[in-house]
Amino acid sequence: MKKEELNSKLEVFICNHKRDNQDDCFHKGGKELTDNLKKWSREKFGQEVKIFRSGCIGKCEEGIAALCYPSKEFLVNLTKMDEEEMKRYIEEQNQRFMKES
Ligand code: FES
Repeated sequence: MKKEELNSKLEVFICNHKRDNQDDCFHKGGKELTDNLKKWSREKFGQEVKIFRSGCIGKCEEGIAALCYPSKEFLVNLTKMDEEEMKRYIEEQNQRFMKES
């Protein structure tokens, strides 16, 4: 095993899990939300913020769900309409953890 340190200060994992019955974060718009935030984040923050597409994070009833580090917060009941609110959250979190590091 080899360990590598992340060079980002903030990571957001957005569930993109797919189920056969389509009751999942992917079909609620998780992929579109992830793709849009990844593109925005890369342009705005470069390597400081990472947006990851994730598998199920155990909040299926409340999907679209996301998990954020280092705040260790779940964001739930997200919709495609929450993109601007997510951007504000990421900006706030990035400023908070920039000050602490
Ligand atoms: S399907 Fe998204 S949290 Fe389980």
